[in-house]
Amino acid sequence: MDDKARAALKNGAIRHIAFIMDGNGRWATKQGKTRNEGHKVGARVFEETASYCHELGIRHVTVYAFSTENWSRPRPEVDALMKLFSNYIDTAMRRFHEKKIRVVFLGDKSVFPRKLRAKMEKLEKDSESFSDILNIAFNYGGRDEIVNAVNRLIREGKTEITKEDLASHLYTAASPDPDLIVRTGGDMRLSNFLLWQSAYSELYFTDVLWPDLDENDIDEAVKNFYSRKRKFGKVL
Ligand code: IPE
Ligand code: IPE
Ligand code: MG
Repeated sequence: MDDKARAALKNGAIRHIAFIMDGNGRWATKQGKTRNEGHKVGARVFEETASYCHELGIRHVTVYAFSTENWSRPRPEVDALMKLFSNYIDTAMRRFHEKKIRVVFLGDKSVFPRKLRAKMEKLEKDSESFSDILNIAFNYGGRDEIVNAVNRLIREGKTEITKEDLASHLYTAASPDPDLIVRTGGDMRLSNFLLWQSAYSELYFTDVLWPDLDENDIDEAVKNFYSRKRKFGKVL
């Protein structure tokens, strides 16, 4: 990363970076491994990526780990992902705690077994006072999130709402909108990720498969971000 990009980061120019962690399955197949092995390596890269972004001074980091549509995958893959996630909460997530990172889960937790849900809630609560945030989207869907927010507003008695009302009832209420969304794996789509919040996000797509992503690739994405002219509808 060049000095200009580093200096801009220090000044907090990227407040929020989000990752669509795609390509674990293809990476594994290419290596002659099972898809589940790809997810395991992917989990390690997730931890390294989140830590690196926080080290760069980016206060809010979001990762898309499991979508509301991913339940349609073969049962053994879904089971393996749930197990990996549950083990992860016991180990790596504790390490985030040591780094004073606040963990927030984006998505509907009510579908998870009671024990897992309790672990997720405890982790959120224990890290609540830290100001750097890691949002982990697990059982997350952008449409699901918007419907959930509207239903909560209805339950609160609202008959008419503002954009601010809606934003403050999304799972991401504690974070600003993402400045940059990075998708690995070569596909150029959002796949139901942060539909409301991505209105003015810069999008960056790379062919690198998620388990191969390293610090240089992240530097490249950040550098690319600084070459963009963000206009927000104005004439600059
Ligand atoms: C992303 O990798 C991880 C999840 C969606 C859980 P994929 O499993 O989608 O990997 P590809 O796209 O099949 O290679
Ligand atoms: C997006 O990847 C979801 C996550 C990374 C968790 P998918 O692999 O599920 O997306 P599609 O099916 O290619 O759109
Ligand atoms: Mg995929």
